Amino acid sequence: MVGDGCSYGGRAGVDRSAGSRAPYLVFRNHHVGREGLPLHVLIIGASRGIGLETVKAALAAGHGVRAFSRSADALTLSHPKLEKHPGDALNDGDVAAALEGVDAVIQALGVPASELRRPVSLFSSATRVLVPAMEQAGVRRLVAVTGFGAGDSRDAIPCPGRVPFRMLLGRAYDDKTEQERLIRESTLDWTVIRPGILVPGPGCGRARVLVEPSTWRGGLISRADVARVLVRELCEDPHIHAAPVVVW
Ligand SMILES: NC(=O)c1ccc[n+]([C@@H]2O[C@H](COP(=O)([O-])OP(=O)(O)OC[C@H]3O[C@@H](n4cnc5c(N)ncnc54)[C@H](OP(=O)(O)O)[C@@H]3O)[C@@H](O)[C@H]2O)c1
Repeated sequence: MVGDGCSYGGRAGVDRSAGSRAPYLVFRNHHVGREGLPLHVLIIGASRGIGLETVKAALAAGHGVRAFSRSADALTLSHPKLEKHPGDALNDGDVAAALEGVDAVIQALGVPASELRRPVSLFSSATRVLVPAMEQAGVRRLVAVTGFGAGDSRDAIPCPGRVPFRMLLGRAYDDKTEQERLIRESTLDWTVIRPGILVPGPGCGRARVLVEPSTWRGGLISRADVARVLVRELCEDPHIHAAPVVVW
C-alpha cells in the first residue's frame, strides 16, 4: 500500500502547515511510487550534498536511481538499483540520454560557495535544458530544489536578514527565482522544494513542509532530511504545483 511508511495527513495542494506549529513530517520505513511500484528516478546533481543524500534515500525507499552529475562515475556508493550516469546538466544531449526510461526527475544542482559572488546562471540554464527535454520525453514528474528566499519566498525573509542575504546569495537566488519561473511555466507535474539553511549530519528523520506563504520562515534543516522530503514527493500526497519551504 502506498504511503505505509509515511505518517503525514492531508492531501496534495492542501495546506498541511500551521506556522511554527506545522505538523512534522516524520519519515519511517520504505515507501514506493504513487501506484505502489518502485520508480526509476533520475537525480541531477547526485554526486554531493542534497543530491547524494537523495540517491541514498531513494534507494532506501526501493526506487531505481540514475545518478547524474559530471563526476557521477566517482560515486563510491554501489547498489544493484543504482546506475551512475556522468553528464553535464547544461548539455542537451547528456540530459536527453539521461531521461530515457525514467519515471521522475529530482533536480538538486548546486554551485560551490566560492562561485556565489560571480554571476550565477547554472540553475536557470540547466532548467532551460531540462524542462523541454522532459516535455519531449513525456517524463512529467519534476521535483526541484531551490531555497528559502527564491521566488515569492523572498518576501518572507525577515527585514534584518534581507541585506546580508542579498549580499551573500543575491546572484544565486536571482537565478533560482528564474529557475522557479521556468518550472512554473512548464506543463510538468512539478514541485519546488525550498530548504532553509543546510546543516551537515544524518538528520533527525523529520521536517516541516510549509506550503502556505503565511507560514514561511527561515530555519535549519539537514541535507539528509531534505532528501527524504524530495523522495517522499515521489509517493503519496505530492505537493503538485506548490513550492513549500522545508525546515526542522
Ligand atoms: N547551503 C545552504 O544553506 C542552502 C540552503 C538552501 C538551499 N541550498 C541549495 O541546495 C542545493 C544543493 O546544495 P548542496 O550544498 O547540497 O549541493 P552541492 O554540494 O552544491 O552539490 C551540487 C551538485 O550539483 C552537481 N552539478 C553542478 N554543476 C553541474 C552540471 N553542470 N551538471 C551536472 N551536475 C552538476 C555537482 O556534481 P558535479 O560537480 O559532479 O557535476 C553536485 O553533485 C543548491 O542549489 C543550494 O543552493 C543551499
